[in-house]
Amino acid sequence: MVQPLGHHRPQWKTHIGFLLAAVGSAIGLGNIWRFPYLCYKNGGGAFLIPYFIALFVVGIPLMILEVGLGHKMRGSSPASFASISKKWEWLGWWQVIFVMFGIVLYYSVVISWCVNFFFYAFKLGWTQDPNAFFFQKFLMVSKGPFDLGDLRTPIVFSLLIVWFLNWLIVFSGVQKGLERANKIFMPLLLLLTAFIVFWSVRLPGAKSGLLVYLKPDFSRLSDIRVWMDAFSQIFFTLSLGFGIMITYASYLPHKSQIVRDSFIISVTNCLFSIFAGFGVFSVLGYMAQTTSKEFGDVVTQSIGLAFVAYPKAISTLPGFSALFGVIFFAILVIAGLSSAISILEAFTSALVDKFHYRRKIVVSVLSLCGFLGGIIFATQAGLYWLDIVDHFLTQYGLVIVAIFECIVVGWIFKATRMRAHIAHFSVWHLKRWWDVAIKVVTPLILGALLFSSFIDEIAKPYGDYSRLALILIGRDWLIYTLFLAIFVAYHSWKIEPSERMLKHPEA
Ligand code: ALA
Repeated sequence: MVQPLGHHRPQWKTHIGFLLAAVGSAIGLGNIWRFPYLCYKNGGGAFLIPYFIALFVVGIPLMILEVGLGHKMRGSSPASFASISKKWEWLGWWQVIFVMFGIVLYYSVVISWCVNFFFYAFKLGWTQDPNAFFFQKFLMVSKGPFDLGDLRTPIVFSLLIVWFLNWLIVFSGVQKGLERANKIFMPLLLLLTAFIVFWSVRLPGAKSGLLVYLKPDFSRLSDIRVWMDAFSQIFFTLSLGFGIMITYASYLPHKSQIVRDSFIISVTNCLFSIFAGFGVFSVLGYMAQTTSKEFGDVVTQSIGLAFVAYPKAISTLPGFSALFGVIFFAILVIAGLSSAISILEAFTSALVDKFHYRRKIVVSVLSLCGFLGGIIFATQAGLYWLDIVDHFLTQYGLVIVAIFECIVVGWIFKATRMRAHIAHFSVWHLKRWWDVAIKVVTPLILGALLFSSFIDEIAKPYGDYSRLALILIGRDWLIYTLFLAIFVAYHSWKIEPSERMLKHPEA
């Protein structure tokens, strides 16, 4: 199982291959239905203001940090942090562990719902009442998180398909798997999305939906929660704090454009969200008109938007509604898969770096674990588990990791040193603003975000769950993965991680 020491690190075949893979990781389920819903909830067009501020103040500086770190250290996240100091290796492990044994488990289950809905769409199989269909017939939601009920066979089957595809792509390697898959996925995704958006904006009533989407309600900007939503959305959508961008950048050739690429990845992702939003709001506007309902009555909470409100709208389309449904769910499956494989790759790379296990064996074992681990989310209590785990891992886990990333790179490795490395390879030069962002602005904003989430949590625990459920399923998920990370970090390296670091005179 152990690979010979000093093996060569895989590399992207082409520069565009790297960009497509990174954009593929960023564009995911979060862009297509979470973003439009957040926009609606937080004042329509006004939400774009905190969203873009979050993109420029936190998103892009952190993207440059992660891409720069991976490029400099030529290693996965744990290897990169261990190269700075062994004391910080746990941080790299923690992020890849809770993302692999947390986020991707339920993320793959949501993709598997989309696979089912893709097949239902051929016959508009979600009946006249998609709400009852989704919650009662499809998920068969039980009474609470500890009432697991039975396994939902259709979900388990499609979960198997999803993990088979995850396995197949990552097993085939960086060039033949990830790069090749994203070269097909990304153009296809853009084409299908463009098709759906142009179809949607021409529907009667679309204008009223777009008005809700784009008309700003500035009064909402005084609400701190609107800002919190914008910052956490930027995080999730750019796959920051996942360890993915560090890993992907470690496969770049020496001569790379770190600053320019970070801009391209971040901006493309956000423009895609806004573009997809046009489609979603047009269809909802159309439905509000045909059912003579208020717009607010046709929009449901985030999960409901894709699996309840949207199917309902699709059923009422004037022609070729099944085709519309099939394409919409195909878009979700493609976007989801290109993100799920990046998570699997980040963990695979970490294990191969440290223990020199054979890559193919690691991918196979992890895929099996991913499938088995996801089964808890395929029970009748799966929706509750998903909701709780997602809340804790994204609102706390990702944010805590990002704050530490800023401290370790900004203060311990030194932001100026990292900037010198980046400058050495970039035509776009970074100025001192980046040092200030990484050392002060970003950690302070994220710290404030974390603090206010925490205060909110104490005042009113998340959802309507019991305290025991929140502690056992949510908080403890973070604590146990942290213990595991510390345990793994304690083991010694076969080759000192710092030996792979890219060295040049300026940095
Ligand atoms: N960045 C991925 C998404 O938005 C994880 O879904």
